[in-house]
This record gives sequence, structure tokens and C-alpha cells, in this order.
Amino acid sequence: MHIRNETTGDAPAIGRLVTEAMLLLPQATGTEAGIVAALRAAGALSLSLVAEQEGEEDGAPIGYLAASPARIGAQDGWGLIGPLVVAPARHRSGIGTALMTEALRRLRASSRGAALVGDPRYYGRFGFRAFPGLTVAGCPPEVVLALPFDGLAPRGELFHHPAFGLKQPRS
Ligand SMILES: CC(C)(COP(=O)(O)OP(=O)(O)OC[C@H]1O[C@@H](n2cnc3c(N)ncnc32)[C@H](O)[C@@H]1OP(=O)(O)O)[C@@H](O)C(=O)NCCC(=O)NCCS
Repeated sequence: MHIRNETTGDAPAIGRLVTEAMLLLPQATGTEAGIVAALRAAGALSLSLVAEQEGEEDGAPIGYLAASPARIGAQDGWGLIGPLVVAPARHRSGIGTALMTEALRRLRASSRGAALVGDPRYYGRFGFRAFPGLTVAGCPPEVVLALPFDGLAPRGELFHHPAFGLKQPRS
């Protein structure tokens, strides 16, 4: 398995993979592939990582991770991770972990921390956790997670890029 940046021509296969994997997540909205496309169109994919199986003929991606710039309260410089997806037939073989490890390695060089909305039972293994006062409007606080690289507790609303289409309070 090999992780690389998205390249020209990957977009349709990434869209299909995101749609297929998100069908397994009960709380998914079905809009995730469209969000990736909108982030790409806005030039807001700070990371667009593709996992592929080396030597496989069709070369279809087997995993994908997006990151985009985000703000917590008045603090710029956060990397919002998501979606993270792995082809259902490849689950539990370390692909999600490999994508996240590479994303965090890269974000450490450019961001004050990483943040996401997701299941703490999965993301906790990478060091993500909830913080008092860290929120996203309409989301239970226990799924709003951050990993500050400086160890300082973030506090405030986690503002996603507008491509996510979230109704977030004005800052
Ligand atoms: C979540 C996801 C990306 C994990 O990818 P993966 O390649 O299977 O993950 P890894 O192989 O690196 O890790 C698998 C481990 O995570 C655990 N895991 C996966 N999803 C979990 C969840 N929601 N809660 C708790 N543990 C979870 C597995 O049980 C497994 O545990 P083990 O190592 O103790 O056996 C993948 O299951 C997926 O695409 N799911 C559908 C989309 C989704 O939920 N995306 C995340 C929200 S954006």
C-alpha cells in the first residue's frame, strides 16, 4: 500500500470511493463526495491523500483523506480532517491509520493542530479528544475532537470551510 497526493484524473474515483464508504456510516449525509468536490473547486484541499494498492492493475484508490483550513474561535491555522474513508473490502488492514498518520505528519509542519467531527473511539487512538467549550453547532460536543500540536486546549466554535455547507454561528 502506498500513499500519495491526489493527481489529475483522480477526482471521479475519489468521489465514488467516498460515496461507497460513507454508505456504511449511519450519520453520513450523502453529501460528502460533493463536499470534497467543492473543497477542490475552491482550492481549499490542503491535503488530498490517496491510498492505493501497489501493483494493482486498475489503480483505483482504496483509501482517501481530505484536510482543509479551519478556525477555532478566533484562531486560524487549524487543519480540519475529513472525510477519511477506506474501501469497505479493505477495512481493518491499517489503511485508515496510515492515511491519518501521514496527514498528521504533514499538518504538524503547517498547522497549530488538527480537528474533526468523528467517533472518539476511533480517533482517540491518534490523540484526538473533546475539549470543554469546543463546539460545532448542531453536533454533540463529544464528537467534536481536536489534537493541538502545542498541547494548549482549544476553545470555541470549530469553523469549517463554507464548502461543508454547515450553518455555523457568526464569529
Ligand atoms: C473509519 C475507517 C476510515 C477506518 O479505516 P480502516 O482502514 O478500517 O482503519 P484501520 O485498519 O486503520 O483501523 C481499524 C481499527 O479501527 C477500528 N474502528 C473503525 N471504525 C471504528 C469506529 N467507528 N469506532 C471504533 N473503532 C473503529 C476497528 O475496529 C479496528 O480496530 P482494531 O485495530 O482494534 O482491530 C473506515 O472504517 C471507513 O471508511 N468507514 C466508513 C467511513 C467513516 O466512518 N469515516 C470516518 C468518518 S469521516
